[in-house]
Formats: sequence, C-alpha cells, structure tokens
Amino acid sequence: MPTIMPVYGTRPEAIKMAPVVRALADDPVLDLDVVVTAQHRAMLDQVNELFGIVPDADLDVMTDRQSLVGLSARILDGLATVLAERRPHAVLVQGDTTTSTLAALAAFYERIPVFHLEAGLRSGDLAAPFPEEGNRRLTAQLAVLHFAPTPLARDNLVREGVPAEHVVVTGNTVIDALVHAVAADPLPFEDGRVSAAVESGDPLVLVTAHRRESWEHGIAATARALVRVLAAHPRVRVVLPQHRNPIVRGALGDDLRAHPRVVLTEPLDYRRFTRLLDACTLVLTDSGGVQEEAPSLGKPVLVTRDTTERPEAVAAGTARLVGTDEDRIVAEVSRLLDDPHAYAAMSRAVNPYGDGHASERVVAAVRAFFGLGERIADFSA
Ligand code: UD1
Ligand code: UDP
Repeated sequence: MPTIMPVYGTRPEAIKMAPVVRALADDPVLDLDVVVTAQHRAMLDQVNELFGIVPDADLDVMTDRQSLVGLSARILDGLATVLAERRPHAVLVQGDTTTSTLAALAAFYERIPVFHLEAGLRSGDLAAPFPEEGNRRLTAQLAVLHFAPTPLARDNLVREGVPAEHVVVTGNTVIDALVHAVAADPLPFEDGRVSAAVESGDPLVLVTAHRRESWEHGIAATARALVRVLAAHPRVRVVLPQHRNPIVRGALGDDLRAHPRVVLTEPLDYRRFTRLLDACTLVLTDSGGVQEEAPSLGKPVLVTRDTTERPEAVAAGTARLVGTDEDRIVAEVSRLLDDPHAYAAMSRAVNPYGDGHASERVVAAVRAFFGLGERIADFSA
C-alpha cells in the first residue's frame, strides 16, 4: 500500500490538514505516516489534540523568536533523516509556510513526489504576504499534484505552466474543518471575559493579527484604530485572541491591552474560536484562514492588508481590503457598526472556498495518482 506522509508545523496547516489526515486514516488502500515539524509548538498541539491526531514523528524545531533561515535549516536537516528512514511514497504539504516549502524541498531532494494542498493562491506581490507568496510559488515548482481550493487558484497554476491534468479543484479543507467544528457540541469559553463579551449582546468585533509585514507598523496602527473605534462607540466590545509570537504581542500596545471593553486572550482552540466567529458582529483580521471561514458564517471581514491571495470573498462582497492605515480602519469598522445597509450588504453567507467535501476529493485524487481509483468531480463554487 502506498504510504502518504503529511508534513505540517503551524496552526493553520494543522487545521487544514486535519480533515485530510482523518480521511487518509480511514482509507483502506492508503497508509498514513504523520510528521510534524512543530514550527509552532503550543498552537500546533492544540489542534492535533482537538482532532485526535497523534503524530508518528515530531521534529520539535520551534525556538523563541525563530529566524526564517534558522528555522528552514532545522526543518530541512530534520526531514532529511525522517524521509531517508521512512521512505514514504508521497509527501503532502499544505499552504505557504516555511514548513510547507522546506518539506517540499526535502522530499524533492529525496526524489519523493510532492502533493500540495491549497495550491495556486497568488497575491501577485512577492513582498506581501512575506514570505508566503514566495513560499507557495516555490512549492508549485516542486509538486507533481496540486490541490487547488478554487477555480481561480487552478487558473493561476495553469497560467504559470502547470499541466491542467496535474491540478484538482478540491475546495479548501478549512471548510471541512469548520463544518466539523460547528457541528460539535459548543464548548464553554475558558476565559470568563470572552463569555461575558459574547453574552453581553453588545456589538462584538473579533480581531486577529500576526502578519510579518505588519510587525513594524500595521499591528500597532490596527490597535490604535480599535481604541478610537471604542471611544466613539460606547457599547462596542473587542475580543482579540493573541498569536503566541512575542513580537506580535508587543506590537499591540498598552492602550488596547488596558481598555475595559477589550479582551486580549490566549489563542482559542479551534472549536471555541469558530464559536466566537459565529457569535461576533464583524471580523477585522490579516489571517488567511479567517478570511475563508468568516464568509461561510455570514460575517463581514475587513482585511488589514493591501493585497490578498483570497479575492473570491472580496468579489462576493463579503470581504473588503482595508490596509493598515489607522484612519481607514477607523472609517471602515465604524461604517459597518453605524450603517445597517452597509452591514447587511456584507453579511450574507457565501461559500466560495469550499463545500465541506474537499478532503474526499483529495483522497480520491491521491488514490487515482497511484492507479487505485478514480478522481471525483471538481469543486465549483
Ligand atoms: C507562521 C507562518 C505564517 C502563518 C502563521 C500562522 C512562516 C514563515 N510563517 O508565522 O505563514 O500565517 O505561522 O500563525 O512559516 N510561537 C510560540 N508558540 C507557538 C507558536 C509560535 O511561542 O505555538 C512564537 C515563537 O517565539 C516563534 C514565533 O512565535 O519563534 C514565530 O513563529 P513562526 O512560525 O516563525 O512565525 P509566525 O509569525 O507564527
Ligand atoms: N484560529 C484558532 N484560534 C485562534 C485564532 C485563530 O483556532 O485563537 C484559527 C482560525 O479559525 C483559522 C486559523 O486559526 O482556521 C488561522 O490561523 P492564523 O491566522 O494563525 O494563520 P493564517 O491562516 O493567516 O496562515
């Protein structure tokens, strides 16, 4: 039986890989060997625990404030040994992180086929998001099977010269994970301040921030903008589950942290985070995954970035690029809070990123690659 080795390391990779790992584990004709780099330690473990995944190998590479080069070297070195010892028939990587690209490179050097989940996203700007746009372009050069989440992502790959028959449009597996999380019994929030904010019935702005290109100015500007929005809207509350990166935490600043209607929490586990997403009024984020999830739940998303590789929700009118200028963020958040027409126009539920069956399409295509079955019909939004 062919052995598929998913390799992943960060929170978003874990969330998006989990439905595929579960589907591969249930497949009678494919074997599974799960490797984590633990580029993220706590945030990765949180997801694996939630989905009941126990990795077969763990490189444990994370260090505090890790550099891209140091991290890359540790991943490549660690994976060289794992791949040489275990010789999987294919390595499956997800997205655009350092783990993803370096795992693809390690597999390529070992002459092991690379399958790329969430392939074909493009912002068109190598500097934003950094280094993710470069990472995903590099991975596309190494992969032999590309799981594009949307028709647009497939078109990007084909335009770059990837043969169309090597691309499968699957939908994004994050929607599979979201469906799973939302269907489960709701878990109470561990932080009583989050429960109080949700139960207050007041307008609730859910915020996340972590992008590397925003470390210097963008995150601080977002925090200042939120303080101004709160001053002008006495009933509004903000909940911001903080990324564990100490640089990001530092950039948020004391004024936001000290505000009585702001809750800065630890990262929420995925089931609680999606519950909060479902309960909030609107979302302000620079996250990739949150841009995909919020439209499914009918939540308007203001994206604190200048470009996005996820334009589908912008085209559908439920997401809007607002950049990281403080005045613009104040204006855009206020508009949604103050103008019911503007709010209604953005709060329709749309599903451009998936139908909850992406992992089935992935597993069928993997089987087909090894001559063990047929692909199933592509996802179309
Ligand atoms: C990484 C990815 C980014 C992805 C993001 C998701 C790269 C280059 N970046 O960025 O694409 O959007 O993850 O969150 O691959 N830390 C902890 N505990 C954790 C996680 C992180 O302490 O569980 C701290 C460590 O000090 C670590 C730092 O955060 O050194 C940065 O982690 P890193 O993975 O390098 O970058 P992210 O900004 O998290
Ligand atoms: N998420 C979570 N808990 C949190 C914040 C986010 O489970 O406290 C989930 C979110 O639902 C999404 C993913 O983490 O699926 C996004 O991760 P992140 O923003 O760190 O990375 P990106 O998607 O930008 O690469």
